[in-house]
Amino acid sequence: MTAKIIDGTAIAQSVRDEVKEKVAKRVAAGKPQPGLATVLVGERVDSAAYVRMKQKACADLGMTSFHHPLPADISQEDLEKLIKELNADPKVNGILVQLPLPGHLDEERVLQLISIEKDVDGFSPLNIGRLAQKGREPLFVPCTPYGCIYLLKEAGVELSGANAVVLGRSNIVGMPAALLLIKENATVTVVHSRTKNIEEVVRRADIIIAAIGMMEFVRGDWVKPGAAIIDVGINEKPDETKKRGYRLVGDVNFDEAKDVAGHITPVPGGVGPMTIAMLMANTLRAAEIQQD
Ligand code: GUN
Repeated sequence: MTAKIIDGTAIAQSVRDEVKEKVAKRVAAGKPQPGLATVLVGERVDSAAYVRMKQKACADLGMTSFHHPLPADISQEDLEKLIKELNADPKVNGILVQLPLPGHLDEERVLQLISIEKDVDGFSPLNIGRLAQKGREPLFVPCTPYGCIYLLKEAGVELSGANAVVLGRSNIVGMPAALLLIKENATVTVVHSRTKNIEEVVRRADIIIAAIGMMEFVRGDWVKPGAAIIDVGINEKPDETKKRGYRLVGDVNFDEAKDVAGHITPVPGGVGPMTIAMLMANTLRAAEIQQD
């Protein structure tokens, strides 16, 4: 069997087009442009690149971004002061603090300070708590897991009653992805570094979300025929034929898995573009909640 490729680039573009159209309608009706504040502490190259992409997406979709680059040695007090100012600023509808923060800062305190109505990353304890509880709805769902579920739904994959295996239990992807799958009535197993017989667990999965940060970790013969695979990994694999000396691969061995799976996301061009698209959708939603 050859898997259907889930085209994250095209699906992300359709989400962005829809957001852009709704933003234009709001502005034409006299409402302010939705605004996203981006907070970047320190100079991590990857974080800076992600934040630049988020600012560019705002500009492309007719939203305003307010960038706050901060020194790596900023104090907890000064960072908290900025968050409080952004909470109070009516031009700011969403607040995004790029993670990870430098080690001396208390991430949990910073995230819990963000107003729930502006928590477009969905990382505040209130939003995560609501995601975890039956009968409660978060205002915002974390962007990467939201993108994963969106891709599965667009591909027509049945979530209700499916056996889903999430590899990885990070706060940013694995854990919220597992909680979202439970909300969708999947039966969920979370695989992590202490899990025994990982291959056996993965073989039972109708849906695999791989977010473990290990290059080509999931092998083709671990995949149940017809399973849907969402690969969140981004790893640099040495490749002499490329100018930059490497190519990007996921947490799943794509060449092996594509012959067994029913659906699979490529890397790049799968989950990656969805994260920013869902952030834009969340920022529009924040403006709607605050202004309508
Ligand atoms: N670091 C890696 N992914 C993310 C994300 O989705 N949001 C934020 N704020 N930081 C991240």
